[in-house]
This record gives sequence, structure tokens and C-alpha cells, in this order.
Amino acid sequence: MMISAPTDYRAAAKAKLPPFLFHYIDGGSYGEHTLRKNTEDLAQIALKQRVLNNMADLSLGTEIFGEKFAMPIALAPVGLTGMYARRGEVQAAKAAENKGLPFTMSTVSVCPIEEVAPAIKRPMWFQLYVLKDRGFMKNVLERAKAAGVTTLVFTVDMPVPGARYRDVHSGMSGPNAAARRMLQAMCHPNWAIDVGLLGKPHDLGNISTYRGEPTQLEDYIGWLGANFDPSISWKDLEWIREFWDGPMVIKGILDQQDAKDAVTFGADGIVVSNHGGRQLDGVLSTAKALPTIADAVKGDLKIFVDSGIRSGLDVVRMLALGADCTLLGRSFIYALAAQGQAGVENLLDLYEKEIRVAMTLTGAKSISDLSQDSLVHLN
Ligand code: GLV
Repeated sequence: MMISAPTDYRAAAKAKLPPFLFHYIDGGSYGEHTLRKNTEDLAQIALKQRVLNNMADLSLGTEIFGEKFAMPIALAPVGLTGMYARRGEVQAAKAAENKGLPFTMSTVSVCPIEEVAPAIKRPMWFQLYVLKDRGFMKNVLERAKAAGVTTLVFTVDMPVPGARYRDVHSGMSGPNAAARRMLQAMCHPNWAIDVGLLGKPHDLGNISTYRGEPTQLEDYIGWLGANFDPSISWKDLEWIREFWDGPMVIKGILDQQDAKDAVTFGADGIVVSNHGGRQLDGVLSTAKALPTIADAVKGDLKIFVDSGIRSGLDVVRMLALGADCTLLGRSFIYALAAQGQAGVENLLDLYEKEIRVAMTLTGAKSISDLSQDSLVHLN
């Protein structure tokens, strides 16, 4: 399959993956309205073209929490990354490192912390949910610290899981799911051999290490549902703030007041996120939510944004709307599924080229030059 644009990887991933995996990453919650709005609203943001400004020297780099980024992108935490490519978290982490960017490991990754962290020299970032099993949280934080993790990304928009109706249709969950998944794997022999067989073990590596026994994919949805904690409040995060001396980023902020509360709490960063349209359907797209949040807290902490970013042009749009950095989730998983580490590296090269052109033609010599002035406001 010909890959010329970052978005080409979606079709390539669809061709390679058993449908239950493709739809799990591709889908959103309920009617998927927010999923669609994330990309549609972002595409509507009009960049302002400026010319004849001698744009020969551009700098895409930035520094966040004392770490250098080759461009304003980090790889987002994505559960089950190791189902999309053989030992997928290791491949993605290596790709990010080779391109000068951080990789964020999900709590519910296939490979455990102890497998991924030693595979790269750059410190890994780690994502944690607020879970009922505080013993697990403490254990995993200690292991992350021991493995040299610097930045903790704390996901707070999943006190309960949103309904993913697509997953029932695809065989990810629902009646006879295990048999349907097996049948789908047999119809996708490249994936079945490369990942299904040679990529084992397929358990939730971080949780299995804690429990001392394998936690199978079969348990994934059930484990998530049973372990999220709807009673969570800012107070519950205090012991983690005390325990974790590195940067702490709160992921899942969509509201200005919540962003201000994150500053009061002492967070080092927030991720403006609707979980890729996978939690509460009907909430604002991040392109719409970001500007008011940036008005309130820009400069008080680092503002990351995800949900709907599919190109380097989208990265530039998000920075112009007020973000300091973007996170890529689905976009890199499609590339990883299609071509492994090399696919993610190529994807990041494509993003880099697109960012470069967009900066040149908006007159931004460095990413800090991108602002609302880089946009045309049509109303
Ligand atoms: C987990 O975070 C998911 O979005 O499925």
C-alpha cells in the first residue's frame, strides 16, 4: 500500500489488523459525534498565510520539563499497543527516541515497564489511571521510578468507562468475543504470525507483574470497568503529588475551571483531551475547548493537547490555538500496526515536513511564534 500522507496509515492498518483491533483503536464512544468533531473542527481552523519573511532558518524544537523535544509532539499512552505490532510498546518507544521525542507508556500496555524502559536511553513517560486498587498504583509508581521514568501522566477522564458500541460489533467484547477474535486472526495471517504468535505474551504486562500471574486480554475490559474509581477527587491525587517528585501532568481536561484547579493542585502540565472521543460523547472537540483553557492557564503550566490530530498541519493549528505540545495516539498506532517502528519513524518524518511547511508559510520561525495571530478568524 502506498504511503505518502500521515493519514494513509489508517487504511494500511485496517488491511493488516483483525477487525476487533482496528475498530478498537479507530472507534469512539456512543454515537461517535465527538470523535468526528475532533477532526472536523480542527480542519476548520484557518491558518494565516504570510510570505517574504526569509524563513530559511526554522526551529521546530522545544524544551519541556528540562527535556529536549525535536518537535512539539509526544507519543500518547495507548492501551494494548503491543497487540498492534510485535512487542509494540518497545518498537514505538524506539521510534520516538530516534526522532527525539518522548514515548508515554500506558498502564494497560502489553509490555511491562521493565521491558520497555531499558530498550531506550531517553527517559520514558508513564501514564496512570486512578484505580481502586491503590496497592497496584503504589507498586506501579515505585516500579516506574526505579525504571527512570521522569514524567507521570495522570488520566482523570475515566472514572467510569464510556460505552464503545463498536467494540461489541467488532468482537472486541460482546457475545462469543473470543471465538470471533480467533476467526478474525486466522483471516489475517500476517498479523496472526507476526504479532499473534511471535508477539506473545499478550497480557497486561504491568498488571501481571504486580499480580504475579498473567492478566489476559480477555480480562481487559472487565478489569478496566471494575477498577476505575468514580469517587475520585483532587484530594485523592495528593498522596501521588507527594510521592512523585517528577513532573506530573493531568490528562483529560476540557474545562477552564478544571484547568485552573490543576494549577492550584500544583500540576506541571495538563492534557486538554476528550480521550480521543472515547469517553463522554457530545463534549466539545479539543480544538474548541483549547483556546479558553489557554487564556486561563497559559504560562502557569504546560498545555498539551490530543484528540483529532492527524497531520503536521494539525499540530501547527493546535499550537496556534494555545498548546505548548501535542500528543499523538491513533495516528501513531495506525503507522505502528502497518509498518512497526519504521512506520512510526516515517510518520514522524511526515509530520516534521508538514510542520516545517506550515511554519514557513505562516511566518513562524520557532514554535513559540505560533499564536492566535497565525490564524484567520472567520465569523
Ligand atoms: C483506554 O484508555 C481506552 O480509551 O480504551
